[in-house]
Amino acid sequence: MATQDKLSSATRAAQALHHIDEITGAVTPAIDLSSTYARDEEYAPRQRYIYARDGGATVQKAEAVLASIDDAAGALVFSSGMAAVVTLLETLNFGDHVVAQKVMYHGAIDWLKRLEAKRGVKVSFFDQADDKALEKAITPETKLVWVETPSNPSWDVVDIEAAARMAHGVGARLVVDSTVAPACTTRALALGADYVFQSGTKYLSGHSDLTAGTFSTAHADDHWAEITTLRKQLGNVIRPFDAWLLVRGMRTLYLRYERASESALKIARHFENHPRIDAVLYPGLPSHPGHAVAARQMDGGFGGMLSMLAKSAKSANDIARFTQVFIPATSLGGVESLIEHRKAVEGPNSVVPDTLLRLSIGIENVDDLIADLEQAMERAG
Ligand SMILES: Cc1ncc(COP(=O)(O)O)c(C=O)c1O
Repeated sequence: MATQDKLSSATRAAQALHHIDEITGAVTPAIDLSSTYARDEEYAPRQRYIYARDGGATVQKAEAVLASIDDAAGALVFSSGMAAVVTLLETLNFGDHVVAQKVMYHGAIDWLKRLEAKRGVKVSFFDQADDKALEKAITPETKLVWVETPSNPSWDVVDIEAAARMAHGVGARLVVDSTVAPACTTRALALGADYVFQSGTKYLSGHSDLTAGTFSTAHADDHWAEITTLRKQLGNVIRPFDAWLLVRGMRTLYLRYERASESALKIARHFENHPRIDAVLYPGLPSHPGHAVAARQMDGGFGGMLSMLAKSAKSANDIARFTQVFIPATSLGGVESLIEHRKAVEGPNSVVPDTLLRLSIGIENVDDLIADLEQAMERAG
């Protein structure tokens, strides 16, 4: 058998780390549903598992595959992206300073605001569209810098290497939300991130049939041990069946991401100068302000996420209602294409323009997707 670390991460993912069950020879991992694990004659754990709230065999398989494709010192899988976010942020102390993006996944922003109001954590939100804003927001007191790239829903691109330099300059840790750019295109830890976060609900699982959250770490140190303990104490671990689905999803990650990226680029080009659309926001287009950095740090494709600005809020809402192939639902990264009138989904506190349509491109025939958008725009008028 080839040594795993000599193989490309695409091969390691496809084979779930050359999985062959030692007893049955099965090439897919089994699902271990046990909530508890017997000890041996010496009263020592037989394997590494003791109790399911700490993760059993299937959860640890998902973590091993993820750590391998992320080239990480370790990985943890949670019951949802938000469960992972909340667990890491639970390590903050009163007075700690956090720097995060002004526009990124709204659930993480809401939780940071809650910690600010209730726990005395200080938070500075920076405008990621301004090159100098991150540097200005970081202070000697900063403990954590949280960036999302490309970020919801304008797909702004943060230069991970530069962000890591700035964070490390004051001894802070950098978390990169890589939900939209998994390891098949961006190796955030190699670029200097301390933690890579992903909503595993999206590209990692890829089939819109589970919720999961993940952290991969560059350091197996005390802070990582604290996050691991907190996951157990909060009961935030993923369930075994979902962990099994996640492993299955990761096996096709590279293929799905490549196809979604190809189709999204074609769709972005098609609608870039379209009479019914004011702008297309996609990091794969040279017109996007983040294109140069994206071209450097997304070498496996620009991903399947893009947004379009319609001519009016009504038109955006109508287009989202009138599609027949795109499904009008929130989320992203699945095999089926989704369309959202994002402001309506995020609610009244949203800072997203009311003309913005967010599209998650799946793996369908791209010409069907283009024709569907054309007919919806025609009908919306
Ligand atoms: C970029 C990003 N981060 C985090 C999350 C939260 O993940 P989950 O929905 O799995 O809790 C999402 C979900 O939409 C997301 O898109």
